[in-house]
Amino acid sequence: MKTKLAILGGPKTINKKTPHFIWPVITKQIERAVTKQLYKSISIYDRSGIFEDFENSFAKYHNRKYALLFNSGTNAIHSMFVAAGLKKGDEVICPAYTFFATVTPLLFTNAKPVLCDSDENGNIDPKEIRKKISSKTKGVVITHMWGIPCQMDKIVKICKENNLLLFEDCSHAHGAKYKGKVVGSFGDLAAWSLQGPKNVSGGEGGILTTNNKEFYYKALLLGHYNKRCKQEIPKNHSLYKYAVTGMGLKYRAHPLAIAIAFEMFKNLDKYLAKKSFFAKKIIKELNKIKGVALPKIPSNIKSSWYSFVFQYKPEELENLPIEKFFAALQAEGLTEIDRPGSTSPLNLFPLFQNPSELFPVYKTSPFSYKPGDFPKAEKFYQNAIKIPVWAFKKDLKIVDAYIRGIKKVINNYRDLL
Ligand SMILES: Cc1ncc(COP(=O)(O)O)c(C=O)c1O
Repeated sequence: MKTKLAILGGPKTINKKTPHFIWPVITKQIERAVTKQLYKSISIYDRSGIFEDFENSFAKYHNRKYALLFNSGTNAIHSMFVAAGLKKGDEVICPAYTFFATVTPLLFTNAKPVLCDSDENGNIDPKEIRKKISSKTKGVVITHMWGIPCQMDKIVKICKENNLLLFEDCSHAHGAKYKGKVVGSFGDLAAWSLQGPKNVSGGEGGILTTNNKEFYYKALLLGHYNKRCKQEIPKNHSLYKYAVTGMGLKYRAHPLAIAIAFEMFKNLDKYLAKKSFFAKKIIKELNKIKGVALPKIPSNIKSSWYSFVFQYKPEELENLPIEKFFAALQAEGLTEIDRPGSTSPLNLFPLFQNPSELFPVYKTSPFSYKPGDFPKAEKFYQNAIKIPVWAFKKDLKIVDAYIRGIKKVINNYRDLL
């Protein structure tokens, strides 16, 4: 049946008040956990209390020996790179398409980021990684974009064959699985953001895991000085003498944030099951529709559905510009639909085009990227449209309404030409 698009004066698909998606959902359990922690302690200097409990539980879930909490994902990522001993002259292969904090902390080690183009899901492309390896390459960092695990069989093989460290940024992918194995358990080091909208969130926060004791001690020294270093680095270790000052940065988490994140972590698998149900529903309903390409996920791979990001295909809708398509979706009342902005190919940022103004070290070991360097990443970015993935049974109605709104715009696209 033909209905008039809202952008052209027709009825809106959704009239419900905004926001349609709230995350995290503050439950009674979270409220209780925060209040309990508030009266217990709001600064934890060593590995005890809620930090110890959360780290133990997180390490166990990922089958890792060590987990270390941080006040941000960015700082957890910085600690991965410092722990691995990266330095000037080293090269690290990084995704061109990621949130920039996957790579910006690397600049503080003075190593050089060697950017790499994407596959069809927006993840780093293993074929491209192979092309970028040089005698200076020390490692590969990957981001499981929007919750979809990277092609881990191929990436792990490349790293093994070439003796490269593997760093995982799992900030979008808490609990995602590749062939039954949880992400964050493939690499030498892994980091997660626990910030704002993440599937496990404390508002702000981060966490790192590793099986490597020496990496763990270095990570402690970077941002967890004094009591925690004294408690955990053995007295007879050569680095123990630095325990009081560490390297001097302060990356400790806030216990109230961790109280929130811990409650969310306890519910992670439950959230993921519901998200997966809704994501499958969206895929089923939009699968055969022209104008969109949906994420391609084999059945043995489990996305964490941090967001549902699909590709707009203007060539299938008589080259209707994405701006018009997107405006029509919004006019239908699909206000939570978004075009991801700051999660952009890194070569489009001045920092990656001219790094030496802010990081003078790159005057002598230069790198410079420009628009057009990573065509697949840039195309993915240009055409990416993001829908939140709801996590509660009661959200079924709103999920259906978003699907209806997208179908309506596609069925009537000709009116927008
Ligand atoms: C992929 C990715 N890496 C790193 C970060 C940085 O985490 P944080 O904001 O906790 O510092 C984010 C945050 O959004 C992210 O999405």
